[in-house]
Amino acid sequence: MNIIEIINKKRLGKILTKEEINYAVNGYLSGEVKDYQMSSLLMAIVLKGLTDHEIITLTEIMLNSGEKLDLSNLGSVVDKHSTGGVGDKTTLIVSPIVASCGARVAKMSGKGLGHTGGTIDKLESIPGFKVNLDEQTFLEQVKKVGLAIVSQTANLVPADKKIYALRDVTGTVESIPLIASSIMSKKIASGANNLVIDVKVGRGALIKNLKDARKLAHLMIKIGSSHQIKVVCLLTNMDIPLGNNIGNALEVREAEEVLQGKKGNLTDLCIEIATQMVHLSLNISVADAKKLVQENLKNGSAYQKFLEFIKAQQGDINALPESTYHYEVKSTKKGYINDINALTLGELSMQLGAGRMNLTEKLDYGAGITLKKEVGDMVEVGDTIMILHTNKVLDNDFLKTSAFVITRVKPKPLPLIYEVIE
Ligand code: URA
Repeated sequence: MNIIEIINKKRLGKILTKEEINYAVNGYLSGEVKDYQMSSLLMAIVLKGLTDHEIITLTEIMLNSGEKLDLSNLGSVVDKHSTGGVGDKTTLIVSPIVASCGARVAKMSGKGLGHTGGTIDKLESIPGFKVNLDEQTFLEQVKKVGLAIVSQTANLVPADKKIYALRDVTGTVESIPLIASSIMSKKIASGANNLVIDVKVGRGALIKNLKDARKLAHLMIKIGSSHQIKVVCLLTNMDIPLGNNIGNALEVREAEEVLQGKKGNLTDLCIEIATQMVHLSLNISVADAKKLVQENLKNGSAYQKFLEFIKAQQGDINALPESTYHYEVKSTKKGYINDINALTLGELSMQLGAGRMNLTEKLDYGAGITLKKEVGDMVEVGDTIMILHTNKVLDNDFLKTSAFVITRVKPKPLPLIYEVIE
């Protein structure tokens, strides 16, 4: 088989056969297909797309490139995924809620690149927390505690690891077919039979508009059903940051606060995600699932489950790190907070040390941003609108921000969840 013919075929918008996709993916994994050839094929896919059948075939081939976790002894298991957003700590909140309702959550997560820190980075900010459990320990913890979250093993979909790293540096991340097959190959390999996906839409997210989000959701549901996995997608707003904290240890602390009863948009979103997870995995109605989720959040059993989970993986939640410096950013205008740009704050938190551009960079776990005001709040000149936490000495430029839009008119509340697609 000839990779140049395969590239040319896709460049002309033709449909690739299973053998051709297999040759490109496994040839790339073995080194026979070179970086420059694969990036050319990826760009042809970005421009010409893939049919649903090609996407399902690509997912299957990526899935078979490595190990799959066998969770069949655990019965009904539920997993969740977020396409990533600024301040997204929902996994840390919904997983213990769902486990406290009697469902089993077995989750493999990744580290983050850019401004979207990964769940594993957040968990590693808890001193002592072990993210690398062997398979036996992982399965036993899911049985005993109802919840375990570990780092993706090196051999989980190695084809996606290699291809994703290439996409990241060749402008080929933003393709719905490639995103769908990348996410679903990892989720299928992780073994759960129920999956809730939070498709983030907006400035601070990979997917910028609802049309693309719908397309991605329908594709992932279709791929899931071809593997007997029940998938529900929530399309949720990521124009403004989620919650009040951005940064690893800061987000763990905020997750703890939500589980202890803090109210707000983040809590509302977590209730909806947890409800869908409980609905799928316990096979009960959405209304019954929501009631159970709200009860367990209120009576403290979700928080107790969070503590049990952190302890089972040897973390010390009372020893979260803090950065050395805390800079207050003040409002220069009087009015209502009309908008807070998630992307701008995501980039800022990365500069403070909370995110990384490549996987070898070390993080400052205490670094990040605490928002002191939300969209709709009234501010006076000189009011603190956010605090920057960092180990770096910052100059005054950092204390001026374009992330907040302040107007005289109070803005309308933004929708939190656009759609739920089953
Ligand atoms: N997350 C993934 O895992 N893969 C993508 O392609 C995009 C986001």
